[in-house]
Amino acid sequence: TIYRSSTTAPVNIAVIKYWGKRDTALNLPTNSSLSVTLSQKSLRTHTTASCSESYSGPDSLILNGDKEDIQSSKRTQACLKHLRSLRQQLEAKDTSLPKLSKLTLRLVSANNFPTAAGLASSAAGFAALVRAIADLYELPQSPQELSLIARQGSGSACRSLMGGYVAWRAGTKEDGSDSLAEEVASVSHWPQMRALILVVSAEKKGVPSTAGMQTTVETSTLSPARFKDIVPKRMQDIEKAIQERDFETFARITMQDSNSFHAICLDSWPPIHYLNDVSRAAMNAVETANRKAGKLIAAYTFDAGPNAVIYYLEENAHKVAGVIKNILPWTSGWEGEFGEAIPPNEF
Ligand code: DP6
Repeated sequence: TIYRSSTTAPVNIAVIKYWGKRDTALNLPTNSSLSVTLSQKSLRTHTTASCSESYSGPDSLILNGDKEDIQSSKRTQACLKHLRSLRQQLEAKDTSLPKLSKLTLRLVSANNFPTAAGLASSAAGFAALVRAIADLYELPQSPQELSLIARQGSGSACRSLMGGYVAWRAGTKEDGSDSLAEEVASVSHWPQMRALILVVSAEKKGVPSTAGMQTTVETSTLSPARFKDIVPKRMQDIEKAIQERDFETFARITMQDSNSFHAICLDSWPPIHYLNDVSRAAMNAVETANRKAGKLIAAYTFDAGPNAVIYYLEENAHKVAGVIKNILPWTSGWEGEFGEAIPPNEF
């Protein structure tokens, strides 16, 4: 018999950024973060997990057609170990269950967007991996409990196991048992939200986030204030803005937090640069749209790369498109149509 389960997980784009670890082994963050999970119609990872008595050798993962070295990936191994032990607990309770925990796992995964181009591929990737194996093993754990496992694969992945507006609570416990994702609001709470992704560069990013955030924690003189005071206050304020559907506050905090993250990158030694001239042109375009409207109708945010994500409400799609079209010649396109851009994900 071959036991098999397939799933997809969407990308999430943070509006309050995770940038810094307090524990690198357990992948625990220096601060809480908050993101919007995008629609599966846009950027997602599809993963099939299977196991069988007829499989032999070590567990394997094929990503976009290429075999990945998961044996030497501590993070992947941590996820697999955790999921297997949960399955073992089930098998111990009910001895009639097939002993899937003993079988070799084969994972086949594909992204419908460029991998590692700063488009949050690790988030969707680990979320899909954890979900697919949890389904294969028929684990009873909730998305929140599974987020603890996905977090060990890649921090931002814990936020891709839920739809809508999702917070990753940094937690205070040393073992990380309270460092998990939580849905702050569902998609239906604020369904007019749209995200537009401007692909400025689809090349592999310069400094990988894991290494970059370590440099920042060790060397940035500005980062302690961000971790201790700035982000906790912003988390409270943006959660309130989401509850009240207050786009202007949501937009202001989103832009401020993206800028604060890139400021501590620049303040690191050696300095880390993710934005380029096209990114800055995108910031200018958003500022122009906001100035013309006389209020904040759009917000930009950038992760560990030059690609821009622009959040806005559906009703302002045309105004945002009007200014963005000027910079499109310098990009390699966008994700999400102007008329019907990407809504947050519905689960
Ligand atoms: C800039 O989740 O990729 O996108 O935990 O080391 O795998 P690791 O880092 P990762 O970092 C994402 C950083 C970010 C901000 C965010 O998504 O919150």
